[in-house]
Amino acid sequence: MQPNKAQSWYILGAGAIGGLWAHILKNWGFEVTILCRNEAQHLLLQEQGLSVTIKGIEQTSRPRSLFPGQANRQHQDSIGNLLVCTKTYATLAALEPWQSLLHPQVNMLLLQNGMGTAQLVQGQYPQANIYCATTTDGAWRQGPWQLTRAGHGETFMGAFSHHLSRSSVAEIMQPLLAASQVHKHELAITWHTDIITPLWHKLAINSAINGLTAIYHLTNGELIEHSQARPRLEQLCRETEDVMSRCHITPISQGLLKQALRVAQQTADNKSSTLQDCLAGRPTEIDAINGFIIQQGAMLHLPCAAHKQLIDDLRKQYTQAQLLL
Ligand SMILES: NC(=O)c1ccc[n+]([C@@H]2O[C@H](COP(=O)([O-])OP(=O)(O)OC[C@H]3O[C@@H](n4cnc5c(N)ncnc54)[C@H](OP(=O)(O)O)[C@@H]3O)[C@@H](O)[C@H]2O)c1
Repeated sequence: MQPNKAQSWYILGAGAIGGLWAHILKNWGFEVTILCRNEAQHLLLQEQGLSVTIKGIEQTSRPRSLFPGQANRQHQDSIGNLLVCTKTYATLAALEPWQSLLHPQVNMLLLQNGMGTAQLVQGQYPQANIYCATTTDGAWRQGPWQLTRAGHGETFMGAFSHHLSRSSVAEIMQPLLAASQVHKHELAITWHTDIITPLWHKLAINSAINGLTAIYHLTNGELIEHSQARPRLEQLCRETEDVMSRCHITPISQGLLKQALRVAQQTADNKSSTLQDCLAGRPTEIDAINGFIIQQGAMLHLPCAAHKQLIDDLRKQYTQAQLLL
């Protein structure tokens, strides 16, 4: 089946994951436009293209791009379909310069870890049709517009906005899903009728692993037997499961602790994204991960003390580190 050539997707946050999607969607025949942060990024992309290394083979694609304040923007069609792959904390600020170009009922697909951002975006753009996606794919950036695919996983997407049907595949997503059916080995995307569940499950596992690896400077595998981190991980899992059960979220099969330890084992040599962000002096997504659990817990009068302690420790440690940089 041929992808619908008329399908057009704008991509905001074309870093590791967003760049990978831009490249693959372009190859599938979609019209792809990257929304750059500034003119310099746009010029570099137009000059060198987007280079993606998959299984050791480098490929280059040439998606269209725009930057805020571009002179010919008045001739620009409104943005109807937007994939957002910024880090969670950057989302609202990244959307802001494009506000006037967004169609009021823009279809926005948020492909990010953590939770809470979709609610914020919906608050700001009440008529937007918001969809969320969660992925076990992996990619990293070597340099500007150069990325490497790290792993092939699977992506679930589903409707987030209350006004959208969850059970049936959204019409706008059908060409994407149809193309993925044909090219599963490139990007395996499946519609999920209850996207909140996989989002919560990923968040729960990340909340147990990421922050602790950053506090104790551990790879994921080292966390498992660490004398100080392991009891904290167990307490985090208990608190998260309490919140999830009170929020009526389907429990993780075999329990969160077992699943978190399994993921830590399977990714034993990896440095979590939170540890990598902290080491590089970048902000982390911890507020959308552990912070989201604390926020949900507060509404249910659950204190989530271990999650609060984790965020406090991370803030103290990395504020000091940044001051020394
Ligand atoms: N990478 C993975 O393997 C992976 C896997 C699963 C989930 N995720 C999730 O996917 C999301 C994105 O992660 P990532 O690793 O792809 O991050 P990333 O490589 O840092 O990409 C984020 C992109 O957003 C861009 N951006 C930020 N503010 C912007 C703005 N105002 N205007 C335009 N662009 C802006 C950044 O541009 P600059 O280059 O200018 O900073 C960067 O290109 C995160 O929520 C992450 O947790 C990632």
